[in-house]
Amino acid sequence: MYRSYTCGELRSSDINKEVVLAGWVQRSRKMGGMTFIDLRDRYGITQLVFNEEVNPELCEQANKLGREYVIQIKGVVNERFNKNEHIPTGDIEIIVSELKVLNAASTPPFTIEDNTDGGEDIRMKYRYLDLRRNAVRSNLELRHKMTIEVRKFLDDLGFLEVETPILIGSTPEGARDFVVPSRMNPGQFYALPQSPQLFKQLLMVSGFDRYFQIAKCFRDEDLRADRQPEFTQIDCEMSFVDQEDVLSTFEGMAKHLFKSIRNIEITEQFPRMAWADAMKYYGSDKPDIRFDMRFVELMDIMKGHGFPVFDSAEYIGGICAEGAASYTRKQLDALTEFVKRPQIGAKGMVYARIEADGTVKSSVDKFYTQEVLQQMKEAFGAKPGDLILILSGDDAMKTRKQLNELRLEMGSQLGLRDKNTFACLWIVDFPLFEWDEETGRFMAMHHPFTSPKPEDIELLDTDPGKVRANAYDMVINGVEVGGGSIRIHDSELQNKMFTLLGFTPERAQEQFGFLMDAFKFGAPPHGGLAYGLDRWVSLFAGLDSIRDCIAFPKNNSGRDVMTDAPAPLDPAQLEELNLTIGLDA
Ligand code: AMO
Repeated sequence: MYRSYTCGELRSSDINKEVVLAGWVQRSRKMGGMTFIDLRDRYGITQLVFNEEVNPELCEQANKLGREYVIQIKGVVNERFNKNEHIPTGDIEIIVSELKVLNAASTPPFTIEDNTDGGEDIRMKYRYLDLRRNAVRSNLELRHKMTIEVRKFLDDLGFLEVETPILIGSTPEGARDFVVPSRMNPGQFYALPQSPQLFKQLLMVSGFDRYFQIAKCFRDEDLRADRQPEFTQIDCEMSFVDQEDVLSTFEGMAKHLFKSIRNIEITEQFPRMAWADAMKYYGSDKPDIRFDMRFVELMDIMKGHGFPVFDSAEYIGGICAEGAASYTRKQLDALTEFVKRPQIGAKGMVYARIEADGTVKSSVDKFYTQEVLQQMKEAFGAKPGDLILILSGDDAMKTRKQLNELRLEMGSQLGLRDKNTFACLWIVDFPLFEWDEETGRFMAMHHPFTSPKPEDIELLDTDPGKVRANAYDMVINGVEVGGGSIRIHDSELQNKMFTLLGFTPERAQEQFGFLMDAFKFGAPPHGGLAYGLDRWVSLFAGLDSIRDCIAFPKNNSGRDVMTDAPAPLDPAQLEELNLTIGLDA
């Protein structure tokens, strides 16, 4: 028997018991004739005591133990003199009578403590050591608990977990595919799934009715804090449903997760916002509605008064930050610099303070009368002590996106984005298509299998840009945690979609012939959604990046620095795969 208890288990009720423990040496302290060692495992830390007077040999052995040695001890549980109320085992210690080193350890490259001295790169290189730290381990424990709750919830509703293949043909979902060469089919490639989209639709044709899968997905896209090249979806699909059925099922799942994981009871329905309103009032299809600060358009009020920047603008809009009139000139200059950063790209920012007597003092006072400024104040419903910040530009959509960045920054600065407050909403009525300037044609906003709203179908022939989709995203605290749609289940309509998306009939047949064929054999109406598991876990854990809830993540350049992947193949492998690498690679 390696151990009779874990390092997180013993309490004062165990005093005088003889126990065997095993774990890692977290730290050791020598005080007079006593040596204290913190022994750690996944479950906690237990203090070990060695007394030089009682057993000098054993104590000498203990003094030689280095950090992260793996040891096994036998001893008796004793009441601690200096109790440590910060840990559950803090009332007891073990008076050790036997010590065995199970494995010596080299000095770790960083301290394995909650507050480590290791930077990101070194922690990623030695991720297995990083995973010994409470913070990272607890994120994985949370992730485990969430998948268990997901499975329980969906199983109770009759969803069936089905695995779909990883080596597939390419699915067009907006990102680039990762591809895998086939040795047995020289010159041909598999793609790794960006999602199980087509397979889950085929499972509906097969009559599975309610499917789910906790599925690995792969996308070769630029990485951000909430994006990894391989990530996990809670992927779901249902037959004989309309949008309302899907929304209520997965809103139910969201509420179940809030209750079971965070003990937060949400009884009211999640608000729903049309995509067009989200863009108009928040400049984003994933608005953070923990705080209001909606955009107010000011074209009518502010244009045409001789301020050249506004007079030539196609969009003028602003936000009102309550109580922020005390912002200093320095703070306002910093905000101006913030919006002018290349990633945001605004040309400048106008500000206006509402003074205690209600007058408005702005950075463009010389162009506007107090009367016009008062009209602007009214448009915001601003009060004394408030601060109005205004952006303008010649492209309304671009300027709204810049204003969105400013709004989020102000929300953060004013402490309105508390990680323990959650604001959920559905974004609905997405456009079916978005215009792609680069290729000069329409692209599917969600994916090509999303159905148009029945009332908009006629517009497919006349004004495709105006067609709205039966598509929805769930957004929590400004993070898109999931999205889905009601699918097209009619091969004629699906063909029409492909034509509008610029597929020739031959290419559509080549890429999606199997789906078109399947639809001819009795496809039920169906729809579904996929939640991003990594994003859910990081929201619940209060993380800034999804990387911290993934055991072995990739860095920002898509590399696994621990195993040093990706890496070149050796020539024999290349030859076997019939591949040659270009000279400049
Ligand atoms: P979508 O592309 O919106 O839909 O993806 C669903 C959810 O997956 C998460 N997600 C990601 N998480 C981490 N890293 C990434 N690179 C990443 N990309 C997406 C997001 C997102 O909301 N097949 C459809 C779903 C459907 O229609 O049923 C799909 O994949 O949380």
